[in-house]
Amino acid sequence: MAQASANMPFRETFSCLWCGRPWAPRSPTDLEGWAQLCPDCLGKAGDNAFLRARLRAAIAERAAAAAPGSTAPTVEPPTGTRRAADPDAEMRAYYAARAPEFDDWYLRRGRYSHGPIHDAAWQAELDHAGRWLDGLPWRGQIVELAAGTGWWSPLLAERGELSAYDVNEAPLDLARERLVAHGLRAHLHVRDAWAEPDRAVDGLFAGFWLSHVRRGRLDEFLRLARRWLKPGGTFAAIDSLPDAQSGAADRVAPEGDRAIRRLGDGREFTIVKVFYRPDELHAALLRSGFTEVEVATTGRFFLLVRAVAHGPGPGTP
Ligand SMILES: C[S@@+](CC[C@H](N)C(=O)[O-])C[C@H]1O[C@@H](n2cnc3c(N)ncnc32)[C@H](O)[C@@H]1O
Repeated sequence: MAQASANMPFRETFSCLWCGRPWAPRSPTDLEGWAQLCPDCLGKAGDNAFLRARLRAAIAERAAAAAPGSTAPTVEPPTGTRRAADPDAEMRAYYAARAPEFDDWYLRRGRYSHGPIHDAAWQAELDHAGRWLDGLPWRGQIVELAAGTGWWSPLLAERGELSAYDVNEAPLDLARERLVAHGLRAHLHVRDAWAEPDRAVDGLFAGFWLSHVRRGRLDEFLRLARRWLKPGGTFAAIDSLPDAQSGAADRVAPEGDRAIRRLGDGREFTIVKVFYRPDELHAALLRSGFTEVEVATTGRFFLLVRAVAHGPGPGTP
């Protein structure tokens, strides 16, 4: 099963170039075999220039070997390591599978820890984002789209009648546990964030969702967000700034608006991840029927977006 490649051939067994540990990748699509690094050392690529360079080269070599016309044997990659035909579908699958480890990102556990200095900055900015969200004029009926494991849901459920939706059941199960632990109630249902609103509410929140809306659909989504709201209703979003210490230590640098995400078990998914600039979001919100638009940052890690639904709404597209 030897793989042909000019510069960095795939190795079925090897000693890790960094720590010397013997390792045998599970399949020819495992980056370890292309990088000649064991999973632990590959996991430190975010902190080390040599490991990062090996990771980048391994990704390029693997892609070249899979390209049409390559002399390397064709290998059917296992689920979760394919190039995404539909990155939205792959993103749904990724977040369903990631649900049990999703909060590790917020808590900077395991692969998501970047050392005490970066982690303290993260914690301070996360606290800032929470205080900012809590300071908004939530009341009445509140809808949370793409609510995930419900990190922000207790804060919203304390302020109004919360309906928290996500396309995946697995993260919602964890959101339910979180709300119960806080002694709070909410309506939790599977619902696509792109589904047309079935009522108008007083507040709409989406955490780390706008960055999963591809550029060509941003206005479409914001007009839909506007249709969720009664005139004068509050829209808010928290999202990502492009800081290298934000994701997993073994994350692959994003290419354009696509990113490769890895789970703890090594499965990989290609998803949409757009790092919108504050001015882009500001302009798009104004175009989409919002007023009193404010787009701020916490410094390194988070975007804070708020706006008020203006007038009778822009109507359906
Ligand atoms: C980055 S997570 C954010 C979770 C949560 N909002 C937070 O701030 O922690 C993105 C979430 O979007 C969900 N998702 C992906 N595609 C979706 C869609 N089309 N409609 C609704 N939710 C979707 C995923 O299941 C995942 O829970």
